[in-house]
Order: sequence, then C-alpha cells, then structure tokens
Amino acid sequence: QPVRLSDYRPPDWLVDTVHLDVRLHPTATRILARLALRPNPEGREGSPIVLDGDELSLKSIALDGTPLAGSAYVTTAGTLTVLAPPQRALTLEIETVVDPSANTKLMGLYRSSGAYCTQCEAEGFRRITYFPDRPDVLAVYTTRIEAEREEAPVLLANGNPVESGAVEGTSRHYAIWHDPWPKPSYLFALVGGRLDRITDHFVTATGKKVELGIYVEPGKTERAGYAMDALKRSMRWDEEVFGCEYDLDVFNIVAVADFNMGAMENKGLNIFNDKYVLASPETATDADYANIEGIIAHEYFHNWTGNRITCRDWFQLCLKEGLTVFRDQEFSSDQRSRPVKRISDVRLLKGHQFPEDAGPLAHPVRPSTYREINNFYTATVYEKGAEVVRMLKTLLGEEGFRAGMDLYFDRHDGDAATVEDFLACFADANGIDLTQFALWYAQSGTPHLAVSGHWDAQARTYRLDVVQTLPPTPGQPEKQPMVIPLALGLVGPDGNDLPMRLDDGTNAERGVLLVTRPRQSFVFRDVAERPVASLNRGFSAPVKLTSDLTTQDLVFLARHDADPFNRFDAAQTIALAHLVEATAARRAGRDLPSPAALVEALGATLSDATLDPAFIAQALSVPSESDVAREIADDVDPDAIHDVRQALRRALSAALRPALEGAYDRHAPTGAYAPDAASAGRRALRNACLDLLAAGGTAPGLARALAHFRDADNMTDRFLALSVLAHNAPDAREEALAAFYERFRDDPLVVDKWLALQAQIAEPGTLERVRGLTGHPAFSWGNPNRVRSLVGSFAGANQTQFNRADGAGHDFVADAVLELDGRNPQVAARLLAAFKSWRSLEPGRRASAERALRRVAAKPGLSPDVVDIVSRSLEPA
Ligand code: ARG
Ligand code: ZN
Repeated sequence: QPVRLSDYRPPDWLVDTVHLDVRLHPTATRILARLALRPNPEGREGSPIVLDGDELSLKSIALDGTPLAGSAYVTTAGTLTVLAPPQRALTLEIETVVDPSANTKLMGLYRSSGAYCTQCEAEGFRRITYFPDRPDVLAVYTTRIEAEREEAPVLLANGNPVESGAVEGTSRHYAIWHDPWPKPSYLFALVGGRLDRITDHFVTATGKKVELGIYVEPGKTERAGYAMDALKRSMRWDEEVFGCEYDLDVFNIVAVADFNMGAMENKGLNIFNDKYVLASPETATDADYANIEGIIAHEYFHNWTGNRITCRDWFQLCLKEGLTVFRDQEFSSDQRSRPVKRISDVRLLKGHQFPEDAGPLAHPVRPSTYREINNFYTATVYEKGAEVVRMLKTLLGEEGFRAGMDLYFDRHDGDAATVEDFLACFADANGIDLTQFALWYAQSGTPHLAVSGHWDAQARTYRLDVVQTLPPTPGQPEKQPMVIPLALGLVGPDGNDLPMRLDDGTNAERGVLLVTRPRQSFVFRDVAERPVASLNRGFSAPVKLTSDLTTQDLVFLARHDADPFNRFDAAQTIALAHLVEATAARRAGRDLPSPAALVEALGATLSDATLDPAFIAQALSVPSESDVAREIADDVDPDAIHDVRQALRRALSAALRPALEGAYDRHAPTGAYAPDAASAGRRALRNACLDLLAAGGTAPGLARALAHFRDADNMTDRFLALSVLAHNAPDAREEALAAFYERFRDDPLVVDKWLALQAQIAEPGTLERVRGLTGHPAFSWGNPNRVRSLVGSFAGANQTQFNRADGAGHDFVADAVLELDGRNPQVAARLLAAFKSWRSLEPGRRASAERALRRVAAKPGLSPDVVDIVSRSLEPA
C-alpha cells in the first residue's frame, strides 16, 4: 500500500470553512466540527465524501442539520465515508470524542505536563476529527475551546482572538479564535493549560502592531527571553531580506516538554519542544542558544514558506522544509559569522545526510513513493533540500534568486504548490531552463566529482578535468548527469587568487564553473604560475569531491585560501586522509603514519591572529569517527577508527601544547556570560583547546579540566569540562558526573545532557551504564527528549559501543525500538534508523546488525512506521 507521487489526484470535495468546538477533558475531550463542503470542480463528479480518521470515537454525524441514517455512511479504521451525498455545497456536523491522556503517540491532541496541546503535521488532525486530512484542502478555521478554568486558564488556537468568557453557571470558560488565512489541516493547533507567558510586540514594515507571546511551564519565564529576542530579529530579517511581512494581530509560541520533533509552524501558534525555547546561561550551552535562534527563525519563516504557500501533497515536503532551512541558515549567517555557520551546516550535512544517501534508506529530496510519511522528515529532505535551494542561488546570483523568490510569493500565495511550480518561478524570472537542475530533486545519492589539474608552463594554460558520477541507490540503478555549480579559485604562489579567464575568452562567472556532463574540461588561459585549485568553495555543491591536490597543496590552502570554508576543509581533508591511512595501518599491524602535515596546518591556524576564534575552534576539531567510517565506506571496524583517532588527538595535543595553552589562556572570560556570537566564539576556542590538551588524559590537561569544571559560571564551560573529564579521566569521571547531577537534577533539559554524555563514552562499560540509566528516576520511555538523549546518543553517537563486536549494542537498541513501538512509533522508527549504515560494517558486526534488524522485523504487530524503516533497511542492496 505505498503512496505514489504519480497517483496524485485533486480532492473530490473541498472544505471552505471549519468551525470547531472543543470541550477539553483529560480523558474524554469532545470535538464538534462543522464543515462547509462543496464538490471540487476539478475532482471526480458524483464522488462520495471520504474523510480520514484515526482512533476516533464517533458520537454523531449530521448533514445540513439532519442526522445521517446508519446506512448513509460507513466507517473503517482509517475513514468515514458519506455514501451518496447531494452534489452541492453542504454542511457536515461531526461529533467525536478522544482521550488526550491515553495519547502516547504525541500526534493529534495530547497532554504534556498536564497541559493540552496538539501536533497535526503530517497526519495528526485526523486524530481530532474526521476530515480530508491532506495538505491541498485549504479552509478558514474558527475554533472555540472550552475547559475548566482551574485546569486550563490559558486557551489558545490559530489566528486572532475573537472573544472569551465564562460558561454561565459553571466552573468552565471558553475562548474563540479565528484564522482568516485558509490553511491545510496539518497547520491546525490548540493549546489549553496552566502556563506562564512573556509578552512583547513587533511593528511590521507597514506599521501594523503584532502582539507576541511565549508560553512556558509555570516558573520558567526567565528562560524565554532569548527566544523572544530571536523571534523579533527573525520578523525584521524576513521583511528586509525576503520582503515577507507578518499577517495576523498576534503571534504565539508555546513550549511543551513532550514533543516528537523540534517544533511546529502552526499558523500564528507555533508549538515547540521546550528544548528549543528555554535557555539561561546556567542551563543552556552556546550551541543551545544557536539552535534556539535558528529554530525560532525556521518556524517563523514557515509563515510564508509553508503556510501562505503550502504543499500540494507530502511528496513536496522539501518545498517548504528545504527552502525554510535555507532561509534559517541565511538568517543565522547574517546574525553570526557566515563562514562558521557554513562550516557547521556542512558538518551536519556530511554527518547525517551523506550517510543516509549512501545507505539503504537513501531517497530523493522529493521522494516518489512512501509508506509512512513521518519517516521522510529526514536530513535529505531538510538539509540536502536546503543545499539545492542554495545551489539555485549560486547559479542565479543574488538578484536572479531574489527575482525568482519574489515571483514565487507573487504567483503562488494561497496555493498548495509543487516543486515544479517553485522551479518554474526561477526559470521564468531568469529566462533559463532548469530541466536538468531538477534532477537534484529526483535522483538520490551523493554525486562524486573527481578533479585533476594540469598546468602547461609553455602555453600558460591550466586545465581542469572533471569527471562526475552518481552511484546507484535503492530503486535507482541508472543515473543521469547532474548540474553541479562548482565554485573555485586558482590560488597563486603568493596566496592570492589569480584572475580566471576561460579559453573561450569569458571570465568564469562569479568564480563558478557549471559542470553538466559526465566528463568535462575547463581550460584557463594566461596562467603564468602553477596555481593550486581551491575547489567547491563554500561547499557550493553537496558532492563528494576528490582531487589530485597533494598534501602540500592542502597545507598551503589551509594557510592561504581566501575562502574560509576551504581553508577549514583543506585541513579536514588532510586529517581524514591521515585517519583512513592510519586505520588501515592499524588493522594490518603496521606503524601509524605521521601526522606532521596536520600539525603544521593546525599550528599555523592557531597562531594566526587575524582568524575568528570560532573558526579556529572548528579547525581544531578533527573529523568524527563516523566521518572516517563514511570515507572508508566498507569493511568498517569502529574500534580501529576510534583508536587511531585517539592517537591523532594525543599527537596533536603533544605537538601543539604551547600554542593550545597560549590560546586557552588568551581566551579566558572577560566578563559575565553573554550568548552573542563573538563571546561564544571565544568560549568555543578556549574549550576546543582544553578538549585537545586533555586528550588521552595527560595530567596537566586533566588538571586544567578540573579547574575549568570547578570555576565554570555557565553551562557551556561546565558541560565541556564535564565531558572532557568523562571521556578522558575514568578516575575523576564518577565524582564529576554525580556533582553535575546533584546540581541539576530538577532540570530535565540539563539531565538530558548528562544522559547523552554518559551514553557516548567509548568504553565497554557504557552499555551496562546505559541499561542502568533506563531505570534511573530521571529517565522515562514516554518522553522523546529523554529517549533521544540516552538511547539515541548511544545508537547515533557512540560508534564503538553501539557496534560492539559481540552484538550487544545492536541488540540493546533493537530491544529499545520494540519497547517504544507500542507507545510512540515515530520515536521508535527514528531510533531504528540509527542502523542506516549497517551494511558498511566489517562482516562480524554486519551480521549482528542484520540479526537485530531481522529480529525487529519478525515481531508481530509492529507499527507501520517501524515496518517501513526495517523493511527498507533490509532490502537487498
Ligand atoms: N514542520 C516541522 C518543522 O518545522 C516538523 C514537523 C514534523 N512532524 C512530524 N510528525 N514528522 O520542520
Ligand atoms: Zn520546518
């Protein structure tokens, strides 16, 4: 029963307005829905009305005020069908009852810390009432919520507040909200509960005043200030950069403790995982602050890219997600350091999306088929989707890109649109053909570019030969060549870029070559000296690039490249090559290679006073174990990778000690904690130095770490020191962990960090520790944040212990998936996706991963979510 993109048909019935009357009750919430329907002129004539429903208890149904006879409709587990409706505009009144307290899937209406909240994307509205629950049915919603005033003094829904008051003669009260903007059901939301709030306001570009509110658990308002600040900056930025103005009188955000994902862009009422709202210097790290800023912006930006223009069907998910991730990345780049933001985004892409694209769960940015849409909220749809938008901008330039976006907002406001609609705007606004470019949405897998350079001293030419390939991926054995915008520079011996003139007399426009064929050569003329090619600058295309650059060339680029991303990347490439070679040497029992080139590159970076501290911090962090595993690609032995990576860190620590100590001391805090990018950058560098200094547990390094832990006045420093101790100082570990827990035991978001850290320790005792922690009072299988912190970190960020040679790590995660599936299938399926690279493991570990997957697959009564992941994971390669 997979759904196919090619089977899309417009809805047979449209809904113009929805009136909801929701009587909140902990176990029996009553929903009265009045839907104004009419036949869709583009649908099939004479169709029945088919509504979606899931775990609903139907109390009554009436058509134009008359109760429907039992023979006039049928219900199944997933639908309610009105069999022979009059083919004209009509009203359905439907009464359903749901149990929010029993809703452990956290989809539809559920309770979080006693408050009522909703999550409807992708298909949760059908768990509230019967409805054509698909994104191309857009309606105007009016929502009345009623509740015990005592239990739920705050009542919120989408749109603007209309009226509120007491329900006469009872202890109940109500509020009515109206959202004038037609929207699909997945953007519906309501909240009821005992919540505190902070308020502010924003005046839009055209002078309209918007009331802003952030609602949090009682007592937590002091932690919402940064989110409010980020919201106001987002609102201003979207006006200035994209011309997008807010369109309601109010904008509310609610933070809840139990949430499957990060956050949700419900119209005028964003609902957030509290992890992405609450922050104080004592409890949140700099990374938490940056995430909050980015996610507040992301959800706010959906108001135009997602809400005003929504998706025709769920295959088009990247239309809103890829574009909105691109927009939030650009916002953060403007608010902070652009190069450092780019580096961390590319790290995320390579760390999460590249492995997805290389394994059994690979799928195109726009999939063409799915069995469970919730499993497609992936790094490919989000992060690679954002890269595709970024490439459009690289191809078209600032102005051409903006012209395309303007046309998109203009042409499609109010529409449920497709990727084709989106691309047509850029093609039309720029008079170009994007047919081949569109393959980025259809072909999965990471393209590979092999580049070699040839300088001809006599002819004074420099030729680049480029070969592109795209490996086969599930369901796609053959591939067509892609359009790859390859930004580059030719760096001369003095470190400056040489002018780039192609032999056809044109300048390589904006420094970008267009690679469109399987093999292509570009010849530059008037190249008097041997250049070093700086390729794929700024990571202009999400490809795996190999070149004939020598280690010396890379050291040169690491010191001189005018492009900061490639300066960073050159050193990473040296480190990665070293680690791959060292892993092979280790497994063959040979001596490890020398890391001299990396020492030289990083030494230069550390001592370059012109560089941003945040940049240096990134440069100091060597590629992760999974980066190395991905590079090795098959017959992966995680223990060998771990050992050689540790050895490299120890070698860097020893070789760079004076420079690291100097940088550590120079970047000591100068005043009270502030979360701004410059202060965070200083902390990042100081902490990166400490992390390396203590690598391998040297006494002076650990002494520094202990002092750092003791003296920290903020969570960034305290947690970094704790993690240095936990990873490198088995003797100091338990005491530090216990002290940390005692201090923060009442703060679940901080306890999450404590859980995650312990799950990541690369030692054989970790599995028993993690197993033990599942019984700790602070842990709960019911809260997605706890599960992700403990079990998710173990499976996703502890390569050696998840992939233990005895298979016990795989078994533990498989058991956790089965344990969770009955409660929360979405969280279970996400956890199971940690097996996505299992085929690249060495034969023994590969066999144990396969056994664990098969054991999951064999369990009767699995959710569709888990069935989908496990069956794709096991699909023959
Ligand atoms: N649209 C949300 C976002 O901002 C994510 C919602 C995902 N929900 C789900 N059930 N998969 O990215
Ligand atoms: Zn989103």
